[in-house]
Amino acid sequence: MKKIIMICLFTTTAIAQNSIDTKLSNYIKTFTIKAPKTIQGKGSKKYEFGKLLFSDKDLSLVRQISCKSCHDPKFGTSDALPLSIGVGGIHNGLKSKQLNAGITPRSAPHLYNKGHNSFRTMFWDGRVFYNQYDDTYETPEEGLNGKYPKFFEIRNKIENVMAMQAIFPMADPTEMRGKKYAHLSNFETWKLIAKRIETKNVYKKFITPNFNIADIANALSFFQAVEFQVNDTPFDKYIKGDHKALSQTEKEGAIIFMEKGRCSRCHHGELLSNQAFQGVAIPQIGPGKTSDKNDEGRFLISGKEFHKYGFLTQPLRNIALTAPFMHDGSLKDLNAVVRHYNNPSRSLDNYLVNDLQLLYKNIYNDFIYVDKNPYRNFYRKDFLAPPIKRPLGLSETEQNKLVCFLKKSLTQEKFQNRISLRECDL
Ligand code: HEC
Ligand code: HEC
Repeated sequence: MKKIIMICLFTTTAIAQNSIDTKLSNYIKTFTIKAPKTIQGKGSKKYEFGKLLFSDKDLSLVRQISCKSCHDPKFGTSDALPLSIGVGGIHNGLKSKQLNAGITPRSAPHLYNKGHNSFRTMFWDGRVFYNQYDDTYETPEEGLNGKYPKFFEIRNKIENVMAMQAIFPMADPTEMRGKKYAHLSNFETWKLIAKRIETKNVYKKFITPNFNIADIANALSFFQAVEFQVNDTPFDKYIKGDHKALSQTEKEGAIIFMEKGRCSRCHHGELLSNQAFQGVAIPQIGPGKTSDKNDEGRFLISGKEFHKYGFLTQPLRNIALTAPFMHDGSLKDLNAVVRHYNNPSRSLDNYLVNDLQLLYKNIYNDFIYVDKNPYRNFYRKDFLAPPIKRPLGLSETEQNKLVCFLKKSLTQEKFQNRISLRECDL
């Protein structure tokens, strides 16, 4: 008798298991989710050059800050802060100090899979953009744009959109250049940096004829693309057919991601991003992009009404390593993110200023400004993208399962020891 019950139990769980796998596999197909292809080149000369440059403070004219200061692999290729501290501050996660530095209006994005060749825009508002149809770039520097760019010798060598991006932080007076050199043009800044790198002994073997800032940018981009690629998470193993790579809770979380949570309506495709600019009603904190401390996102670049408060949908692999979240870092962890999506309008209205001030009070010189202007918050809600206009209605348990999927299934195993996975102990 006992034996029969055991067999029955075994077969019913096997069937349940099987049906959740069938369902999830179908969703993976429907939402064209794939494991990203491997980008080769680790250890190559170009990779080594990029690796050295990435942590070289000489890319900052005042020699005080490197790319790594704000995109540190230790903090998930970001800086553990809502808003980055610029040149002149101390960069060390929650032990950072602003000192006399400025702060950036937006959060330092993570760099995971951003060097993938399907990724065509850079920055939260996509202001660096590659147009594949006529092989031109759009950037904040006129001299690099269009068919006949003034700085042709740079533009012509730039290999991809991530390389094009790399030359901008070096030229930004707050991020890397420093106030002392604020009077220079971008072009003059790039020339000085290239000269400095060209004549530095450690780089001798990497220097090629007609060396300029584009060679530096290409190496940086290559290094980032290779080093920060993520394509072997438990979810990727599952996608490739290993159905044991995810636990039952993770699978249920994945189904919520695809179904009731509506996440895959935007986070889909190879990188789990539709690469569109959309409004998800994020509270606005910090100095903002305009004098009224506002940030209207993509609208500031495109001028199109429907882009108001729209920011780029982010790729999600290794996301658990990169807190805080969103364009201004206003959501402190993945629980806060999921709670926000569950009812974006309510979350925006109830956003707690004090929480944030407490968390970061020793880092910034002043309290971080939080926009509570009801008129603007009305528009943030009004521009909510259709899939999340209605609340999701996720229960506490469902939210936890979704967080478990985001944290465990989407994080490379070698990094899982850095995060708490308590949501997965259900
Ligand atoms: C002071 C901090 C800081 C430094 C230094 C810095 N960045 Fe950034 N980085 C940021 C911020 C903030 C953004 C987002 C700005 C925005 O979207 O408006 C960003 C955006 C990016 C992006 C775009 C990613 C995406 O999701 O679109 C890449 C790539 C990047 N940085 C690479 C670099 C490289 C390479 C360097 C060194 C040459 C560098 N960063 C130096 C803070 C920094
Ligand atoms: C309407 C499209 C859309 C839907 C639906 C959506 N997202 Fe997003 N997601 C975005 C956009 C756009 C951003 C960036 C928004 C910003 O910074 O203002 C984002 C950002 C995020 C981030 C932060 C990334 C980072 O680097 O800071 C996480 C995590 C995330 N989404 C998870 C989810 C989850 C989980 C769901 C489902 C509950 C979901 N998203 C549903 C579009 C969407």
